[in-house]
Amino acid sequence: MSQTDESVPHVVILGAGVIGLSTAHVLSEKYPSYKFTVVARDLPEDVDLNSQAWASPWAGANWSPIGGYEEKKYKRELITFNKLWDMISSGLIRTLPSRICYAEPVNDAKFWYKDIVRDFRILDEEEVPSGAVAGVAFTTVSLNPQLYLLWLRNELNARGVIFLRKRLYSIQEAAEIAGPQGVVINATALGARSLIGVEDTAVYPIRGQTILAYAPGVQEFLAHPLGLSSVPTGEATYMIPRPAPHGHVLLGGTFQEDNWNLSVDFDTARDIWRRCLQLAPALNDPETRILGHNVGLRPARRGGARIEAQWYSLPLESEFLPPPAEGAEKYDFLVIHAYGFGAAGYQGSWGAAEEVAEIFAEHFKLVA
Ligand SMILES: Cc1cc2nc3c(=O)[nH]c(=O)nc-3n(C[C@H](O)[C@H](O)[C@H](O)COP(=O)(O)OP(=O)(O)OC[C@H]3O[C@@H](n4cnc5c(N)ncnc54)[C@H](O)[C@@H]3O)c2cc1C
Ligand SMILES: *[C@@H]1O[C@H](CO)[C@@H](O)[C@H](O)[C@H]1NC(C)=O
Ligand SMILES: *[C@@H]1O[C@H](CO)[C@@H](O)[C@H](O)[C@H]1NC(C)=O
Repeated sequence: MSQTDESVPHVVILGAGVIGLSTAHVLSEKYPSYKFTVVARDLPEDVDLNSQAWASPWAGANWSPIGGYEEKKYKRELITFNKLWDMISSGLIRTLPSRICYAEPVNDAKFWYKDIVRDFRILDEEEVPSGAVAGVAFTTVSLNPQLYLLWLRNELNARGVIFLRKRLYSIQEAAEIAGPQGVVINATALGARSLIGVEDTAVYPIRGQTILAYAPGVQEFLAHPLGLSSVPTGEATYMIPRPAPHGHVLLGGTFQEDNWNLSVDFDTARDIWRRCLQLAPALNDPETRILGHNVGLRPARRGGARIEAQWYSLPLESEFLPPPAEGAEKYDFLVIHAYGFGAAGYQGSWGAAEEVAEIFAEHFKLVA
């Protein structure tokens, strides 16, 4: 391939959440001569704006088992766990002793993740907190999402990746930014529901209300129970200590499917506090302070996350768009989708990015 400007492939990553940024990170490392642009409505520096329009600033975020075994998820989350574990010395990631409790007896099938995490074991009866009948302990990792997103952004800046703030309404616009030889990576999460092109109605929110606390006494990830709608009313109690700032712990929470409400509900907040106190007496300390209340929408997808390539015929024809200009050139355009990670976007991020990179390598030969 010659190195004139037009012949350098242009990769446009739509979305600057943990999925878009991690994908940009992996691809820009593998293909340093290509041109990369991240296009998003919300950007990492917006974490101070408290925008709830995207999920990534509001995560816990740790690696924890969610749902049952699934082959692709397993691979993604294994890759990510190991990568995060290797990053501990950077200070962005901490190791986290953990206990998950269950209200019912458990069997081995629940422990599909036992070789991913470290030090996995089943709790002795006297270690199980009151109100639970069984539990497991292991060592996992956590990170502070807002600091982590800024780190990813800085890495990409240093590699010359361009950031463009723009809200897109259709894939046609993304294709125009990329140019006919370009590729678009679609990491728009819940935004994928409404973009004109292929509106994906399988995408839905799982509302998560949380409390950010200063609670230096809490040094363990505790959860009871954890998972998607394991409780019909959507309560899931968990505490995620972060590597930084000192003493910061995220207290949760709720798992409310199809609930788009972004307001903090104070009855829910009181209930979260009560449930966490019951699970972690260490919270009951004169030093503990509430720093804030948050609501975030986990961008889930019925059928699981979608990582796959799709060719579009452009210009796009849609009942929601004006007809294409007469004589507009017709061409096929490649989009690689990567959205719908629900409650597990951080813990699947590096694996998802690798999966996108594999698809990219396969298809790019066709385009180049
Ligand atoms: C309370 C809570 C706790 C969580 N805890 C954890 C945890 O402990 N571990 C874990 O792994 N995960 C956790 N998650 C889930 C995690 O936050 C998400 O899975 C992850 O952030 C999804 O990342 P994303 O990049 O797919 O989407 P997002 O972060 O939502 O990013 C989407 C991006 O696309 C952009 N975009 C969307 N539509 C458009 C458009 N039309 N035009 C331009 N740009 C657009 C947005 O601006 C944004 O930049 C939690 C989530 C919540 C809410
Ligand atoms: C991203 O995927 C969603 C769901 O298929 C779709 O609605 C949207 O148009 C896609 N965006 C692009 C730029 O391909
Ligand atoms: C959203 O939640 C708030 C707080 O609980 C509540 O007052 C409001 O009525 C809810 N809005 C909708 C549309 O349900």
